[in-house]
Amino acid sequence: MQGSLPAWLRKQGESMRILFIGDIVGKGGRQAVKTTVRELMRENRCDFCIANGENMAGGGGFTKSCLAELDESGVDVFTSGDHVWDQKEFPDEIESVGNVLRPANFFDGQPGRGYGVFEARNSVKVGVISLIGRTFMGVPSNCPFAKADELVEKIRVETPVIIVDFHAEATSEKIAMGRHLAGRVSAVLGTHTHVPTADQQIFAGGTAFQCDVGMVGARESILGREIEPVLHRFTTGMPSRFLVNDKGIRLNGTVVTVGEDGKATGIERVTRDLF
Ligand SMILES: [Fe+2]
Ligand SMILES: [Fe+2]
Repeated sequence: MQGSLPAWLRKQGESMRILFIGDIVGKGGRQAVKTTVRELMRENRCDFCIANGENMAGGGGFTKSCLAELDESGVDVFTSGDHVWDQKEFPDEIESVGNVLRPANFFDGQPGRGYGVFEARNSVKVGVISLIGRTFMGVPSNCPFAKADELVEKIRVETPVIIVDFHAEATSEKIAMGRHLAGRVSAVLGTHTHVPTADQQIFAGGTAFQCDVGMVGARESILGREIEPVLHRFTTGMPSRFLVNDKGIRLNGTVVTVGEDGKATGIERVTRDLF
């Protein structure tokens, strides 16, 4: 079976494996990615890595120095979501960073781009699309379904291997996107909730799907944040500062196997408990 060959033995066009990592939270998340992704890729025979990086800088957004830390990590492309503009310099910086995508269905005129075609280690072209949902999200955006249609058609001219990060809250909206794109993209993988779901499956037509991949963040936390301030907000209704917990990190990811025709043949969750 081609999928069991190490990346360097496979020929161009044969099946490939893609590692997708959920929201990277803060310093602990960055450290985990930096020390673990290459090893995970080797173990899982992956040729390409996508990670959602929207919480990498102190729990919200991106900075150039945080991205520089992850230069050699093995991550090829960073997708994002509602936190992409949390760091005030980043709107001016995103265009000088080649591998960070903001949601493609954000309003026209916002800086950066929401999709791209990248080359994997086995020379296969991989299209990556970052989209954001509209249910319970509170972020103004255009219709993600219409934007997906437009971009899939555009990217398929170049490659049938297309991975969509759908950054959304509602499982229903995420499943709807998976069903909407079934047979047209290799995978629709969810991010944003920071909680991995156990619903990974391959839809008819060869589209791998999972509602949420999870996060790279602390186990002893509430979505990567210190427990007490979040509890305080819930129990008193009073504002509190949500600090990131950088210790006791769990890395959540998903590996998708894709054939030369862009159809997914496998999807497996990977979890690693770290320092
Ligand atoms: Fe997030
Ligand atoms: Fe988010």
